[in-house]
Amino acid sequence: MYRTHNCGELCKKDIGKEVILSGWIQKIRNLGSLFFIDIRDYFGITQLIFPKERVNISLGKEFLIKVIGKVVERLSKNYNIYTGEIEILVSHLEILNYSSPIPFSIENKTDGNEEIRMRYRYLDLRRNPIKNNLILRHDIALETRNFLSKNGFLEIETPILINETPEGARSFVVPSRTHVGKFYALSQSPQLFKQLLMIGGIDKYFQIVKCFRDEDARSDRQIEFTQIDCEMSFVEVNDVLIFFEHFVKHLFKKMKNIQLDPFPCISYYDAIKMYGTDSPDIRFDMSFIELNDLVQKKNINFLKEQELVIGIKVTKCNNIHDKINFFLKKIKNKNFLWIQYLLDKTFLYSKQNFMNKEFLKILVKRFQAKPGDLLFISFGKKRKTREILGKIRLEIAHYLNLINYKIFKPLWIIDLPLFEWEEKFKRYKAVHHPFTSPKEEDIHLLEKSPEHIRSKSYDLIINGIEIGGGSIRIHNKNIQNIIFKHLGLSTKEIESKFGFFIKAFEYGTPPHGGIAFGLDRFMNLLEGNDNIKNFIAFPKNNYGQDMMINAPSFLKDEKLKELHLR
Ligand code: AMO
Repeated sequence: MYRTHNCGELCKKDIGKEVILSGWIQKIRNLGSLFFIDIRDYFGITQLIFPKERVNISLGKEFLIKVIGKVVERLSKNYNIYTGEIEILVSHLEILNYSSPIPFSIENKTDGNEEIRMRYRYLDLRRNPIKNNLILRHDIALETRNFLSKNGFLEIETPILINETPEGARSFVVPSRTHVGKFYALSQSPQLFKQLLMIGGIDKYFQIVKCFRDEDARSDRQIEFTQIDCEMSFVEVNDVLIFFEHFVKHLFKKMKNIQLDPFPCISYYDAIKMYGTDSPDIRFDMSFIELNDLVQKKNINFLKEQELVIGIKVTKCNNIHDKINFFLKKIKNKNFLWIQYLLDKTFLYSKQNFMNKEFLKILVKRFQAKPGDLLFISFGKKRKTREILGKIRLEIAHYLNLINYKIFKPLWIIDLPLFEWEEKFKRYKAVHHPFTSPKEEDIHLLEKSPEHIRSKSYDLIINGIEIGGGSIRIHNKNIQNIIFKHLGLSTKEIESKFGFFIKAFEYGTPPHGGIAFGLDRFMNLLEGNDNIKNFIAFPKNNYGQDMMINAPSFLKDEKLKELHLR
């Protein structure tokens, strides 16, 4: 018998009880005649007290021990932990297992760097922050399953070993032993299969599913990650947005007791125009103000020749000139200028040659600027100019602490373009994926100007991070064929890669659509957006390696031969 209680449950009402506890040694304090040991398990920490003569064996951190003793009241109490008013007066101690010296401290704040923590991930899991993240992950998965099941979704597993599908990222491939020269690809997402489930008459599907993408890892990206993947039949864009807004609000309420405001819905085109990005952070305002008409009307040299002139206003910067000046010095962009509107209503500005008093006054009016405000103006080619000002908007907001890090501001971005032109390959690429439906009103552009077609797609952005994305799918064979052709697939390729899929369209395919949320990314966002790795039990490092098991690794020659790779 290893324990009558765990290390997190004894308290004042248990005083006087004889108990057995097992746990890892967190801390040892030797106070001369008395010995104090904190032991820890999954549930918490309990303090043990021994007269010295009872500890005639040498102990160390992370030794696993079993003790028998009596619950007594502590002299100096620790009200920060549940067990902080009691301790165990130990009568018997047994070492269940020894521990080598530990490579980093197993505390909430550890001295271990990421590499060493990844190498000894099983020790890292003993720390509260990682353990609590895994508990939260379990709770979210459970809540998701309950919520979606109650709403008529059926959880169904789909295959991992499939063929390459054009989903935007590179696939991992697996050589087949039995089919010489052939390969499987690991599923980037269950996209095709969830659509086939709808064709198969399953009304609503979901799956908490591993996806694999051979891309460079980042703080919000892993090569192996988890999606909450969903699909529904007989729906249009609004049905999906309404239902999943409800779902996301439910998770926030349940997990964080946060009541989210209604999610605004902005078209992709407007998001780019207002914020220079398709994933805007709307915890702060500073949307772009267009100035082209103004520079034309006032005949402002140089600026009037630009394709686009836009600006943002940062309010109340009068007390932070040094800080601002430091920031401004860092910006090396030529197509950019700034104007400080000072408290005495004079101006400081970056480009002398085309600033005149009248223009400055007009700018003040257009921006509705007040003394103390700072204006940034970006000019040049449309796309680049918006992109640059979008980055500056974000940087200045971080730099000047304009973001309330405690709030969550979701929004839907809708109507993403169906295609984007890839100059390198001289062909179109699907912005979401090739199974996304064009908007009916844009279908007439399919042959002549595909780049102007808007799609029935949507992304869920929270605090500037893409948490989910989906679309209404094509359910018409002819349209699907045209889309594949635009993506550069020949009739033969369409037949060999997607023949089965196109064939399925011939049997009364229902209109359908869905969405997938990045579970790891969602958790990372909920907990402060530090690093996605902290929410995955055994993550890969930024080079796609598992540092603990040392994967990937070389294969022996005989294995390579067996797989027909030698
Ligand atoms: P998409 O490719 O947009 O859509 O992926 C959906 C969501 O998954 C998350 N995500 C990732 N999370 C961690 N690491 C990654 N490498 C990674 N890549 C994506 C993001 C993203 O919003 N089949 C479609 C969904 C659909 O159309 O229904 C799909 O996979 O949070």
